[in-house]
Amino acid sequence: MSAFPATRLRRLRRTPALRALTRETTLAADHFIYPLFVTAGSDVRREVPSMPGVFQLSADGVLEREVAEVAQLGIGAVILFGLPATKDGRASQAFADDAPVQRAIRLIKKAAPALAVVTDVCLCEYTDHGHCEIIRKGVADNDATLEALGMVAASHAAAGADIVAPSGMMDGMVRAIRAALDTTGRTDVAILSYAVKYASAFYGPFRDAAESPPAFGDRKSHQMDPANVREALRECELDVGEGADALMVKPALPYLDVVRAVRDAFPLPLAAYNVSGEYAMVKAAAANGWLDERACVLELLTGIRRAGADMILTYHAKDAARWLARA
Ligand code: PBG
Repeated sequence: MSAFPATRLRRLRRTPALRALTRETTLAADHFIYPLFVTAGSDVRREVPSMPGVFQLSADGVLEREVAEVAQLGIGAVILFGLPATKDGRASQAFADDAPVQRAIRLIKKAAPALAVVTDVCLCEYTDHGHCEIIRKGVADNDATLEALGMVAASHAAAGADIVAPSGMMDGMVRAIRAALDTTGRTDVAILSYAVKYASAFYGPFRDAAESPPAFGDRKSHQMDPANVREALRECELDVGEGADALMVKPALPYLDVVRAVRDAFPLPLAAYNVSGEYAMVKAAAANGWLDERACVLELLTGIRRAGADMILTYHAKDAARWLARA
């Protein structure tokens, strides 16, 4: 290997064309999954205060217009979160056929058939206590929750979802959902497991958007400790064994080493979730004129891809797709 002065790495950085030829990582709208918050009611388009540019939308013409725009921008998929009209101890609106998410799936499949529809499968937006689990005699019950998660996934699949994405970090959730899908004849619906989800402070704004903060306690007994990476590989191994079709690491930016570790250890498609708090930080700094939003967003999304993610769940998807189209 020759060294300086024969070798000069700046030669291939000299022009935009040379830089494009030697670029190692690509970023495109079809890698993006855009999160949508679907609320009960009609004609609702309510901005989330801590997430400028993100809206709670009703499952009617409002949502139709939104998904038409998302599809037109070349974004690959949407992931749906629901804000039901009522909450209870059984999370019954999570698997009701006329609830906002179920209605939204049917509407999107008509209005934008090319979009892949992913659904978040968790109970926290639907329980009156805001926890991801069914609570029995004051105790969070993992195994009772599995049955409910199977019903939620089956109900999303019946409405037309392509992919269900369990996010509750329950032990055995992928196995229970695969069984529920297969016994209801939905063998072709895929499971994207939030296999590696940390107990993160960066979910703060999401809990405003989804109106789903826990009424007491926290989620540390089921979400992962931010300090652990070997445990992340065990989570993935278990979910792969239970039948996961794709894996997710969440959040993205403080966990890029985890994205890389999962990428290197498993051949499955891998998603990373650029979460609400990561979005809010960039938006707040940009609103103050402290950061160049476009440059920062494209850099951080490229970083997530370089770490090894195939797909990126991001609230920046629409803006980034527009910037990439013009670049
Ligand atoms: C749970 C869920 C959460 C997020 C996605 N799915 C919140 C939580 O675990 O408290 C967070 C996403 C984000 O912060 O953008 N259904």
